Amino acid sequence: MRKKIVAGNWKLNKTFSEGILLAKEVGELSKNEINSDVQLVLCTPYIHLQQVSDIVSDFKNLSVGAQNCSNKASGAFTGEVSVDMLKSIHVEYVILGHSERREYFLETNNMLKEKTDLVLSRSMTPIFCCGETLSQREANIHFSFVTQQLTESLFHLDADTIKKVVIAYEPIWAIGTGVTASTAQAQEMHLLIRNHLATKYGQDVANSISILYGGSAKPSNAKELFACPDVDGGLIGGASLVARDFVDIAKSF
Ligand code: PGA
Repeated sequence: MRKKIVAGNWKLNKTFSEGILLAKEVGELSKNEINSDVQLVLCTPYIHLQQVSDIVSDFKNLSVGAQNCSNKASGAFTGEVSVDMLKSIHVEYVILGHSERREYFLETNNMLKEKTDLVLSRSMTPIFCCGETLSQREANIHFSFVTQQLTESLFHLDADTIKKVVIAYEPIWAIGTGVTASTAQAQEMHLLIRNHLATKYGQDVANSISILYGGSAKPSNAKELFACPDVDGGLIGGASLVARDFVDIAKSF
């Protein structure tokens, strides 16, 4: 059985005290409302991580994740945060290659390969993001673009290691726009990703990898998205900033 995961990506939102309040609210709601087979992940800004890491330890369905990490292990890289630093405060997940990082911070597939290796080497779980722009979809190159992102950043891993990666398909045209991919579009791409994994690693490995959908997911559309056979959960931006909405999404399986 694949893990069902709903991860909240807070992005550049919430002061420290606001974030701590939000994490506690999510924890309290999740305690009574979330099925034991669903994992919630709070991907907070760096400064919240240590405290949120303490908070989630009280709730069995809750984990903490970072939104990024350095592609260097240590050294003279001002402003960076390393995997060892994250590991030392018990961070469990790290989002890698979000489209905003690719676009605004020029992260390349090769850089993301380095980050993936670092995260895995410290026994944390990468949530590896992929997804196409609207113009790529309109030009009908969205499948080849997404498979290339996966191939170039992940396909050097061996079969046992890639099983430890979570993939998030996030069509860029759906992120923060209010436009959600239709269930047909989401399922089509998720199946393609799984088939792509299967060609390299075999069907059993492909079937064991959780593939999350991200892009304007909300309580009103999560149920139909999560009902797709190859959608194993969500990476949630805007709606993860409100505890009630985030937990309602996680109840939508
Ligand atoms: P959104 O963001 O839910 O606000 O569209 C999703 C994401 O960027 O991970």
